[in-house]
Amino acid sequence: MPLFVAGLAGYCYGVRRAMETAEKAARENGGCVTLGSIIHNPQAVADLAAKGAVCAESIDQIRNGAVCVIRSHGEPPETYEQLRAKNVTVVDATCPTVSRIHRLAEEAANQGRNVIVVGRASHPEVKAILGWAKGHGKAVLTQEEALALPPMKEALIVCQTTLSLERYRHVCAAICRRVEKPDIRNTNCQATALRREEAAEIAHKADAMIVVGGSESSNTRELWELCKSICPRSVRVECAQEIDPSGYKPGDLIGITAGASTPEGTFKEVVARMNDIENKEQITENNETAESDFMADVEKTLKQIRPGQVIVGTVVQITDDEVCVNVGYKADGLVKKADLSSTDVKIGDEIEVEVVKVNDGAGNVLLSQRNIVNRRAWDAIVAAYEAGEFVDGVGKEAVKGGLLAQINGIRTFIPASQLSLRYVEKIDEFV
Ligand code: F3S
Repeated sequence: MPLFVAGLAGYCYGVRRAMETAEKAARENGGCVTLGSIIHNPQAVADLAAKGAVCAESIDQIRNGAVCVIRSHGEPPETYEQLRAKNVTVVDATCPTVSRIHRLAEEAANQGRNVIVVGRASHPEVKAILGWAKGHGKAVLTQEEALALPPMKEALIVCQTTLSLERYRHVCAAICRRVEKPDIRNTNCQATALRREEAAEIAHKADAMIVVGGSESSNTRELWELCKSICPRSVRVECAQEIDPSGYKPGDLIGITAGASTPEGTFKEVVARMNDIENKEQITENNETAESDFMADVEKTLKQIRPGQVIVGTVVQITDDEVCVNVGYKADGLVKKADLSSTDVKIGDEIEVEVVKVNDGAGNVLLSQRNIVNRRAWDAIVAAYEAGEFVDGVGKEAVKGGLLAQINGIRTFIPASQLSLRYVEKIDEFV
């Protein structure tokens, strides 16, 4: 049961900063309170309380003259006023990405413009942004809610930081039908976007996914929904004890990722538990194979493979849809025709392939040639970026706000503002 563990798991920058701020405030002031749980994880909240940073659910629970830490979600201006009125010292750990949205909302409100926040109205981050919009704001989460907005001349549009860009674009399309001059800003958090990208990549390769995070955590929920849409056997667990070993079969490739508020320790415990399950499986397998020395000897001569590995195999069969490749493993590998970099192959050819899945569910190894080509093209783009070099691309399609272009088969986007030194009126001219 090979494990594919996400590299971008653990606290995001904003949550780590808030945790460290709370610990420091408790240390320097002989204790402090946090307004609401600083993180959606009961264990981490209990650990913080043990270090002197205790959670207060409301301002009423905070005593006069106390030290209060504002969590990364941020708070509306009224909260700061109420705390000041109680002579409370405020230590602000609002994530800088969220503070930027507060400034945008406040500025728009001061200019008398409407503010539309795409996000969950009940989420503390969205409530705080609406507070900074000073009565000019509205939250919508779906296209239906957007279409029910009253017609507006102009409005600033922002999104909850953890919302997926796909969902934001989808809802914005509806908002544009209600607002004559929409001023759309991308306030989606880059840390979340990168985590989602990596999780999607793993989910495409995995037979089952485990998303570690609190049930209250919005970004864990979004991550889980994304994984489920790609890999139906995706579960969300809060801790290692919630893992049900019967949900996994030998040979399954298991992907593991975590939301931005999941403590590193919790994530590591889940990985360790899955490793234990894997080791037990191997012991059982070893006991069974010991019954047949002959089979064990045969197995020893076979190659071990793992997802992501690049190997050379020999084409042994070609059908209308796929090419069968002997890679020296106990099962043959299959490359779908769409996954070949060239259809010009014949029986006996040696080709380089990447292992996508060790078992595709029917006992075959799933292989791809295209993944190798794409990764090399991607590496070349990254190398060019790091070296400050130019790359050549072909303009393919004009879209809202810019141009889609191909660079060695990789789909890229060039914002209209970067297409020319002059203002570009017709993006089409670059196709
Ligand atoms: Fe900030 Fe993004 Fe984390 S907005 S709190 S860095 S998920």
